[in-house]
Amino acid sequence: MSGNRIYLFDTTLRDGEQSPGVSLNVEEKVEIAQQLARLGVDIIEAGFPIASPGDFTAVQAIARQVREPVIAGLCRAIPHDIDRTWEALCEAENPRIHTFLATSDIHLKYKLQKSREEVLAQAVEAVKHARRYCSDVEFSAEDASRSDVDFLALVIEKVIDAGATVVNLPDTVGYAVPEEFGQFIRTIYEKVPNIDKAIVSVHCHDDLGMAVANSLAGIANGARQVECAVNGIGERAGNAALEEIIMALYTRRAFYEKDININYGELFRTSRLISSLTGMQVQPNKAIVGKNAFAHESGIHQDGVLKERTTYEIMSPELIGLSRGTLVLGKHSGRHAFKEHMTELGFALNEDELDVAFAAFKEIADKKKEVTNDDLEALVKDKVWSIPERFTLTYLHISSGTSIVPTATVKLTIENMVFEAAATGDGPVDAACRAVDKITDIYGKMLDYKLSAVSSGKDALGEVLSHIEIDGKQYGGRGLSTDIIEASVKSYINAINKYYYEKQHPHS
Ligand code: KIV
Ligand code: ZN
Repeated sequence: MSGNRIYLFDTTLRDGEQSPGVSLNVEEKVEIAQQLARLGVDIIEAGFPIASPGDFTAVQAIARQVREPVIAGLCRAIPHDIDRTWEALCEAENPRIHTFLATSDIHLKYKLQKSREEVLAQAVEAVKHARRYCSDVEFSAEDASRSDVDFLALVIEKVIDAGATVVNLPDTVGYAVPEEFGQFIRTIYEKVPNIDKAIVSVHCHDDLGMAVANSLAGIANGARQVECAVNGIGERAGNAALEEIIMALYTRRAFYEKDININYGELFRTSRLISSLTGMQVQPNKAIVGKNAFAHESGIHQDGVLKERTTYEIMSPELIGLSRGTLVLGKHSGRHAFKEHMTELGFALNEDELDVAFAAFKEIADKKKEVTNDDLEALVKDKVWSIPERFTLTYLHISSGTSIVPTATVKLTIENMVFEAAATGDGPVDAACRAVDKITDIYGKMLDYKLSAVSSGKDALGEVLSHIEIDGKQYGGRGLSTDIIEASVKSYINAINKYYYEKQHPHS
């Protein structure tokens, strides 16, 4: 492998899942890990097994099912944590134990209440303990960028002696600035005599909006692994965005002169999958994967792009797999054409999934003149990649207006039986959700609600992403329909289905 090769370490399922309000079940995590493998990331951090039985099960399922990439599990530098992490990881083809301990004086004094000597000894013991299980061990010096650099260098030297194969230097609180962070990585190379025995990694947070810039500065100064999350999700302001790092290294390859091994065409699809399963929408002006990232509004720009694309486009949207939402299928299209088209779009559906998707397509095609690639992608996420539904919406009637109390009548199917309820509310969506509550006897609180159009035109499919609190826990819901009230109620029911599913499968 060339010395210029940069390893992409994806932490969407661990640090990304620490985003407020995000809670993924095991099936969703496996689906994401499979997509990350198709994208071609080198390492997938599948979770933090000690954090909860659900996290443990998810790491174990990913370790069993996702074969090519390295599968990492995070643990504190504590023997019991390490043991449990190995238990979750041991069936992976390429397992990695990722253990961490803070090295900054602030963390030592206030959080750990330990001396530098104690922390050094603990870090070394943890790495030795992990190496008894696994030949691939990563050590992260939490809050590295705010640590005393000489103490940090000593810890790094000793953990490498103890067997760490990767040493990660996080900017845990997103405090660094690029020039300084690059210099910091260079200093570690200068001060750690055995640094060539390990891969140096960076992990930057975005509190000052500099996570990607800091990560790239780290790479320019010798880091060979970069930790990042899809759409930049993660603790607080998030992690460095995976798609931005990849496209910066690709688009400016003459500058960085680094190699990565990625299927660029999977980037957009990966971003969409994460946003739909986490319920965290991508801001329209987000670099690379935002809705406007390749949209040219000004006449001068449009004219320029029509004459020569490179006048205003530094990347091609097709490279990242962005479909331009062209008309593809209509209501007369048959199952065969539908299947071919879905395969072209990259959806490898089995016959059962195809049946579900085709039925949903016909339903949409009846309501909508043009069914676009974006509609089809949304439909697969809504109908095929969703958890089993206990409650299905079969009827919705709303009466609402400026001078009447909004009233909703709802029918839900539960195990082939239809149940009906009516309710009033502060608005039509509220009324319908209250009617749903009456039937399910599950009472959700809508915390967050976002409506967007999947495609353009008056008959566009509306997508509603919501966050619902039930029994003190948050669930993301997603609903799709040409009718926005129906999309909203479906989103609410989707979250209730997730809650119900989790109750039936407590370790998922
Ligand atoms: O931000 C951080 O320091 C981390 C470590 C656990 C790697 O997420
Ligand atoms: Zn982090």
